[in-house]
Amino acid sequence: MADNNARTIGSKTALDPRSFRQALGQFPTGVAVVTATHGGHVVGMTANSFSSVSLDPPLVSWSVAKSSPSHDAFVAADAFAVHFLGADHRDLALRFGTSGVDKFADMAHAPGETGAPLLEGLAPIFECKVWARYPGGDHTILVGEVVRMVERQHDPLLFHSGELRRIDAPGSQRRAPPLASNSFARNYLAYLFARASFIVSNEFHARLGDWDLTVPEWRVLACLMDVEGLSVGELAAMALMKQPRLTKVLDRMERDGLLQRRATSGDRRRVTIHLTAKGRARVEPVQRAAKAHEAEVLKQFTDEERATIKYALDLLIDRQTPEG
Ligand SMILES: Cc1cc2nc3c(=O)[nH]c(=O)nc-3n(C[C@H](O)[C@H](O)[C@H](O)COP(=O)(O)O)c2cc1C
Repeated sequence: MADNNARTIGSKTALDPRSFRQALGQFPTGVAVVTATHGGHVVGMTANSFSSVSLDPPLVSWSVAKSSPSHDAFVAADAFAVHFLGADHRDLALRFGTSGVDKFADMAHAPGETGAPLLEGLAPIFECKVWARYPGGDHTILVGEVVRMVERQHDPLLFHSGELRRIDAPGSQRRAPPLASNSFARNYLAYLFARASFIVSNEFHARLGDWDLTVPEWRVLACLMDVEGLSVGELAAMALMKQPRLTKVLDRMERDGLLQRRATSGDRRRVTIHLTAKGRARVEPVQRAAKAHEAEVLKQFTDEERATIKYALDLLIDRQTPEG
């Protein structure tokens, strides 16, 4: 049966690296941390290129990117250890998948039979002596002979479609299905915004009740923290609200002592909105929590990716805002 989502890449379409990567992402894999020791230093990285190669002799392989800072150490080492990650090891996968961080901080480890470091508490583990090294394009393929195993049945961590997942995670049925890169939804700006906004703010908005705030109240307070003395019209535009609704919200917040309306001395009809000390005290911890939540949401991205996301959004907003 024809699949409307399918498209041919290669013969008709140029095989661009992004599409190739996305297509590979449709093959789910496990996730491992591979470690080695070279020149007295330990190295480790997250890898999903692990594969079984041979039963007799017992061989496995994985490939290490030439661009990785630890490539040369892995290739020069005469052994490596492969630790399979479990469903709860998402943070570990991200830590060992990030360049430039101290991956072994607070991680107890000790040399195993081959000398490669074994991370405490993790299993299954395959301790391997390097059996062969092959060139593999921008990677080097390392084949290892397994000399010792630490066995354990576990609930594995999976990598699929660029995401770390668990098998049958509670609520996984409610996940949106993976969409092809040429699907309408992945190319329609309004949908991308709605979904991105949901990802970024939904969970945090659900926690606002902890500070006794609603979403409109949080928006108003956050806007006033940035610009003191806004007019109602300015505040409506900035807090993304229609004026009649905002007026009701302001009435309530003024009654609660969170803000104050003041008439401008020159023009008594011009009213500006000001935070009270109580309003400021209410919003400050919420802003700190909002930034912590944002850091959590964005931690899977590199600094460059984070900057790109914010730059693109800011650019779009900036060009839509009339100057002057
Ligand atoms: C799920 C996942 C799988 C990965 N698989 C590999 C892999 O098989 N080979 C590789 O070279 N890098 C892989 N990476 C990227 C490396 O883990 C990452 O570049 C790491 O920072 C390399 O360590 P280094 O910077 O200390 O060299 C993977 C990353 C993740 C998150």
